[in-house]
Amino acid sequence: MFEPFAPFVPSGFQVKVAVEPWERAAAARLRRQVFCEEQALFAGDDRDAVDDVAIPLVAVSLFGVAADAVVGTVRIHEAEPGLWWGSRLAVAPECRKVGALGAALIRLAVSSAHARGCTRFLAHVQSQNAPLFQRLHWRTLAEIELHGRPHHHMQADLAFYPPFAAPETGFLALRRAA
Ligand SMILES: CC(C)(COP(=O)(O)OP(=O)(O)OC[C@H]1O[C@@H](n2cnc3c(N)ncnc32)[C@H](O)[C@@H]1OP(=O)(O)O)[C@@H](O)C(=O)NCCC(=O)NCCS
Repeated sequence: MFEPFAPFVPSGFQVKVAVEPWERAAAARLRRQVFCEEQALFAGDDRDAVDDVAIPLVAVSLFGVAADAVVGTVRIHEAEPGLWWGSRLAVAPECRKVGALGAALIRLAVSSAHARGCTRFLAHVQSQNAPLFQRLHWRTLAEIELHGRPHHHMQADLAFYPPFAAPETGFLALRRAA
């Protein structure tokens, strides 16, 4: 009687700094879902001292023109002058590989740090995701173990990430044509 239908996936996403309290709270929730529940990398909460200084970035799904829900996030922070790190990259399972949101968050992370004077941008990348970063012009500096899992210590090639000075507005990412 009822036909099965594919779950709704929005067609547009705004990738930007999380400026609103609800965006920050939703980003923290998404991180807990991905890193605590899905990946069991942390127990209970994945927050750490970096969150006291980090800038959270989000991908917000757009329903019409209204912001709807946070479906992706990453955080960036400056550890010492010029040296920036990205961490806790996560996209909601239903939005993976639909709008290149992971790639868009990486682009905003590195380009907005570049606009703030970044000369070196690093990340510890879970090894299964290293090919994604390599395609986005990152190189592996070392292979290490972190939280009991294999990681690549990687550096972005800033030449491919021109400074982006309007991260609060960010940019639009569109869902791929099916
Ligand atoms: C890793 C993650 C953020 C990628 O998000 P995503 O939105 O699916 O990634 P994108 O759609 O931007 O991927 C861009 C391209 O890389 C590919 N890709 C995505 N993940 C990949 C991987 N692990 N290895 C190789 N290629 C990958 C995609 O297929 C896509 O290729 P295409 O353009 O040819 O179709 C997401 O899978 C995720 O949240 N995983 C769980 C948490 C996690 O592992 N976080 C990262 C910690 S380092």
